[in-house]
Formats: sequence, C-alpha cells, structure tokens
Amino acid sequence: MAHDVLSTLGEALKQSETLDYDQAWSMPKSYYTDPEVLALEREHLFGKEWICIGRSQEVSKPGDFMTFQLCDEPLVAIRGDDDKIRVLSNVCRHRGALLAEGSGHAKRLVCPYHHWSYDRDGKLAAAPKMGAHKSFVSAECRLPEFACEEWHGFLFTNLSDSPPPLAPRLAGLSALIKNYHMEEMQLRYVADEVWHTNWKCLIENFMEGYHLSPLHKTTLHLVNPTKLCSHFPAGEGYFGYNAGYSPDLPRPAEGHPALSHAEATNCVMFAVPPGLVSGCGGDYSSFICVQPESTDRVRAKLGLIFYGDSWKQPAVDHAVDLFNATMAEDKTVLVDLMRGMASKHHARGPLAPADFEGPVLDFYRFYSRGMKEVLATHGQ
Ligand code: FES
Ligand SMILES: [Fe+2]
Repeated sequence: MAHDVLSTLGEALKQSETLDYDQAWSMPKSYYTDPEVLALEREHLFGKEWICIGRSQEVSKPGDFMTFQLCDEPLVAIRGDDDKIRVLSNVCRHRGALLAEGSGHAKRLVCPYHHWSYDRDGKLAAAPKMGAHKSFVSAECRLPEFACEEWHGFLFTNLSDSPPPLAPRLAGLSALIKNYHMEEMQLRYVADEVWHTNWKCLIENFMEGYHLSPLHKTTLHLVNPTKLCSHFPAGEGYFGYNAGYSPDLPRPAEGHPALSHAEATNCVMFAVPPGLVSGCGGDYSSFICVQPESTDRVRAKLGLIFYGDSWKQPAVDHAVDLFNATMAEDKTVLVDLMRGMASKHHARGPLAPADFEGPVLDFYRFYSRGMKEVLATHGQ
C-alpha cells in the first residue's frame, strides 16, 4: 500500500518538476488523504524546515510568551531579559508536564505540577525540595532551545539541530516586499482556528488567484479580482503571485511612503512553505500560520497587521469582517474538497495558467525538493 501510494506520488511530483505551467496537473488524492504521507510530511517538512509561529510583536516585552505546537513538540517563545526571543521546549524537565499555556507574561515559567521554575532564558531557577538528590545537577538543567529567526516581523523556528539560516533563501522575496515594511505593521487581529481540510489544500487555496472572482464574488473579487493576478518566479524557499487591487475601490489607508504606485496598488501574495502564507498589502496585510493535525484537520493561526497610526477601530473591524467573510467562503469549499477527494471518481485535473494557478505548481515543486529522498527511499 505505502509502496503504491508513494510511487504514484513520486511520479506525479517528478512530472511537476519537469512539466511547465501550461502542462501541469493537480496531484492525486493520496497526496491529501493518506496518513502515511502526512507522517512523512511532519517528519521531513515540518520537522526540518523553518516554521512561522506568529509575529514577534506578540512577545514584545521581556517576559512576554506565546505557546505553539509544532508536530509533537510543545514550544514556548519567550522574550528574555536580554531582549532576545528564544523558542524553548514547553516540556518540564522534571516529569514532562507542559509549562505554559496560551500566551501571556511571566517573570518565570513555573510548572503547574510541582512548581519547578525556569528563567526566561530556559535555565532552571528552582526545583523545590530537590537539593538532596544524589545525581541531579540542577545548575545544568535547562529547557532545550530551538533556532529562532525574525523576518519582516514574522517569528520562525526550526526543530532541526543547526539549520541553515532562513533569510538568505528568502532574499528574492524580501526584495519584493521590503518597501511594504511589514515589520512595522501592528497586529490588531489574531485568531486560532481548526479547519477541516488538508493543510496543503489551505495553502494552495490561499496561493492561487483563479478562485478569487468566482468563489469570492461579493467579497474579495471586488478588491482583488482574478483578472489582476500575475505570477512571479518562485525562489528556493518561497513562491507567490501579485494580486492587483481593483482601481474601482480606493484603499482604506496609505502604506509606507517608500511604496511605488505599482506596489501600493498591489498585494504580494506569498508563501514561505510549509507553514506560512501571507497577503502583503501596503495599508494592511494578512497571514495564516499552518500546522497539520491530521490529513483532514489543520490548525490555522490567522492574523491581520496594519501599517501606520491612522487606523481607527471601525476601519480595522471592517477589514477583519472582509477577511473573515472571505475565509468563511474558503473554509466551506475546502471542507467540500475533502468530500470530493473521498470519491473514487476523483481524478487529477489540469491547472490554470501560471498567473492564476502557477503557485500551486510552485508548491508541488517545493514539496518535491523537500520530500525527494523520502519518496526515493519509500517509493522503490
Ligand atoms: S512535571 Fe514539572 S515540576 Fe513536576
Ligand atoms: Fe479564497
């Protein structure tokens, strides 16, 4: 079974590497529905790649923390007294209870079970009544720490031991979005949700403009119609497209003064796969951090960030409403997709031209690079 599934997938992915945009086909349904495929993705993509866990603004002061589950690793990002953000294991070194929950502010991380406590840099600060233990060296006890990088205000972590830095592989994307100054944008809306779909369906959906006009006829189509979408070349660690803003609707606020007219009238839709998609607009931007829970459940942390001081709450609320209305439309179709894939009549379909569905092929190619060795080992 595994052999068949993986060799079929391997074949389809190999095709996606060589066939051009006007010859590309969607992936077979096992790509989205097979639990063994998901287990491999968790190990080889989410367990090895840089994964976005949110915005650095969420931990803006020393002691601010936020928790995050990445594969089987409960994590906590906490800003230290030295102002450095660290991503630490959220698992107590005593007997494994989880230290922190949700987000908040803490002088120390205190385990609820037996009150061992840890400094903001992860070092054990106190372990009540443990002084008599013959072999435990409390001075050497600390929470494991994971790599952490901030990029345009997004916070990334990586579960591998010494991962190559993130920023160089995103240099091409940084050049496209730098004038938008996302790092200055303020987080005014964030929500944790579970979507009943495969994580890759969510990413593909966010990253293709083909559906904007038909599916979002009364919502996003008025802002970013499909006809104004254009593909840009993918890089090693990113892919995306430009979604032009309709000239019929004025933008609600000015963006950064560095923006050219072309940039101000465009939203850069980008993915830093496997875990982040974002729509970078001059006045405000959206993002979703994505974590698979099972083949048909994905944890999504959705947020909106706003540029400048001119945003009053009603204007923010209006943007949030548009975002949520659009996401509700996406969610409905993505749940239905899973039903469609359960059909024995489901078949691979042709992808629309690069401007509309090119990023879907880019995603397959990224996936194929990340999973190449796995597919080769398991599929032969
Ligand atoms: S498990 Fe944390 S103090 Fe015991
Ligand atoms: Fe959509």
